[in-house]
Amino acid sequence: MRHELPKLPYAYNALEPYIDTQTMELHHSKHHAGYVDKLNAALEKVPSEVREKPVDELIRSLNDVPDEIRAPLRNFGGGHYNHSLFWTVLKPSAQGGGGEPEGEIAKAIDRDFGAFASFKEEFDKIATSLFGSGYAWLVVDDSGKLSVLPTQNQDCPLTNGLRPILVIDVWEHAYYLKYQNRRPEYVAAWWNIIDWEEVENKLKV
Ligand SMILES: [Fe+2]
Repeated sequence: MRHELPKLPYAYNALEPYIDTQTMELHHSKHHAGYVDKLNAALEKVPSEVREKPVDELIRSLNDVPDEIRAPLRNFGGGHYNHSLFWTVLKPSAQGGGGEPEGEIAKAIDRDFGAFASFKEEFDKIATSLFGSGYAWLVVDDSGKLSVLPTQNQDCPLTNGLRPILVIDVWEHAYYLKYQNRRPEYVAAWWNIIDWEEVENKLKV
């Protein structure tokens, strides 16, 4: 099975002014595409039962694969999965992205964080203070409880048995052209383009 770069559900300029067109184009067509190509190359060297797994299963079972292929699968499989998830939880603000969540996801956030404002504060802290490259996540555990956590590089919470439902990419390639070293400004802008309906869909799966 060859993995493929997913098409974005919006144009490269659709998330302006929060994420600029050039960043979106490079991030999707170069960075994400590069992870997909390297994942496919790495998978040519693995047993067929590993090669045929969908990317989320590869990441979930990372601790069970042979040592010599774990690092490339972790980096390139993670790079593919994490970016794919990131694109799907974004929505142009003109089409309803951003704002505060409603429905089941709002109730779950209130239940597990006390209020949306507390959740946002905790998430912002993780996203802005993560050292180096990585992601900030909202995840669901086996009992249905929500929590937030950071991961380094292309590590993914799936490997630790958690189900991610919202993520922000805080690698410099995600924001440096527009925001340079001002990561907190990028994180603040990102709240305007979250697709909360999609986050709720992921919660309900
Ligand atoms: Fe990225």
